[in-house]
Amino acid sequence: MIVAANFKTNLTRYQTREYLSRLEAFIHDNNISQEVFIFPTATSIYSHAGKVNIGIQNAYPTKNGAFTGEIGTDQLDEFEIRTVLIGHSERRHVLGETQEFIANKYQFYKEHGYKIIYCIGEPLEVRKSGTSEMMSYLDSQLVGIDMHYENLILAYEPVWAIGTGVTPTNEDIVSLHSALRRTCTASILYGGSVKADNAKEILSLKNVDGILVGSGALDVDDFCSMINDAENIKLNKEINR
Ligand code: 13P
Repeated sequence: MIVAANFKTNLTRYQTREYLSRLEAFIHDNNISQEVFIFPTATSIYSHAGKVNIGIQNAYPTKNGAFTGEIGTDQLDEFEIRTVLIGHSERRHVLGETQEFIANKYQFYKEHGYKIIYCIGEPLEVRKSGTSEMMSYLDSQLVGIDMHYENLILAYEPVWAIGTGVTPTNEDIVSLHSALRRTCTASILYGGSVKADNAKEILSLKNVDGILVGSGALDVDDFCSMINDAENIKLNKEINR
């Protein structure tokens, strides 16, 4: 399974280093075999040789150039970062990224072979307008996206569940993930108000291959507890096979 933490605009470089060393120790001491990612702020990325994969929350589709405030692959190469988050709802709705721009970014990072966690999710008013409206809204977030890219990980994060403490019902998560499963072979993560106390239940659901966690992962002990849940669920699934 995949367990990923998106720090957003939280934790300093010093705090991230502390977090990472505690996380590595936990993974080592507990023989964790799950895929673990963290996405720190751009000022807190490291060249890192451990088990934890460090990804970037955002990067511009360029090697370098005149794009004030942005970073490109030259800067990512310096820290050997090979994973990028694209399409996050905060980039879409707060920072104003259009689907066309997001698709360009996806294409660029795909051509450069990066692992891409590609995020989609509907706002509350779309969810309230019914299933077919919701599915066509989600389809519109897949325009220009190669769903068969071998390094794609898909993340379903309903906007109304992000940072609100509210999650969809288990049935809704399963039905949405099952619909997405028909469109690709990529791993599918759920994100939106995942916490240490609901991670186990969510990770156990059919067609949920992992979680993308925001605020609930800022405490490293909580994140470790979710990784532990993923490890146990994976073991149970293997035993029951
Ligand atoms: P929260 O876990 O804080 O709801 O955020 C989820 C998210 O946006 C992860 O990318």
